[in-house]
Amino acid sequence: MRVLIVFESSYGNTHHIADAIADGMRAEHDVTVVPVTEAAGELVAAADLVVVGGPTHIHGMSRPASRASAVTAAERAGDGLQLDPDAGAIGVREWLQGVSGSNGRTAAFDTRLDASALLTGRAAKGIAHELRDAGFRLITEPKSFLVTKSNELVSGQLAAAQQWGESLTHALATEQASSS
Ligand SMILES: Cc1cc2nc3c(=O)[nH]c(=O)nc-3n(C[C@H](O)[C@H](O)[C@H](O)COP(=O)(O)O)c2cc1C
Repeated sequence: MRVLIVFESSYGNTHHIADAIADGMRAEHDVTVVPVTEAAGELVAAADLVVVGGPTHIHGMSRPASRASAVTAAERAGDGLQLDPDAGAIGVREWLQGVSGSNGRTAAFDTRLDASALLTGRAAKGIAHELRDAGFRLITEPKSFLVTKSNELVSGQLAAAQQWGESLTHALATEQASSS
């Protein structure tokens, strides 16, 4: 099957998670990973599964102002933050306004701080909600991957992302078996 993984990332963590999810799926599927700025409608239409992820900003999906804050923080000397080369003008929130699901399969993920989700919020919940509204069918619950306060992936999160990718393969197989 063709899997499209669409990510937004300010500092690279969500990008790394997207790549690790892809690693977990490549044995079974034809997987493409693209930043949200390059996720054209034709790619979405051609995919059997569209996986969408972004960072949690101010308890939900990023907005232009929160992405601008992320850029300002990266430009401040001494914080050690580097912008992801694919950090762009639009985020998942804006991209989702223009996509159409046509009952296609989908899954959502985010990155967020390593604390209770009640405190941090979860972009993945909003992403899942918008994907459903756009006409996609979720094949699994939204998933979070965790970063530290200094914006580094918590140990073990890349392995967890790879495992989640493998679990998406199982979910696809189960779904196919039940619909045939
Ligand atoms: C402006 C801004 C607001 C943020 N707000 C939250 C938040 O409300 N909850 C949270 O868990 N993390 C928050 N974070 C931390 C981000 O979730 C974290 O930087 C992101 O997951 C890292 O992913 P990235 O490297 O792909 O950008 C915020 C970060 C920025 C820059």
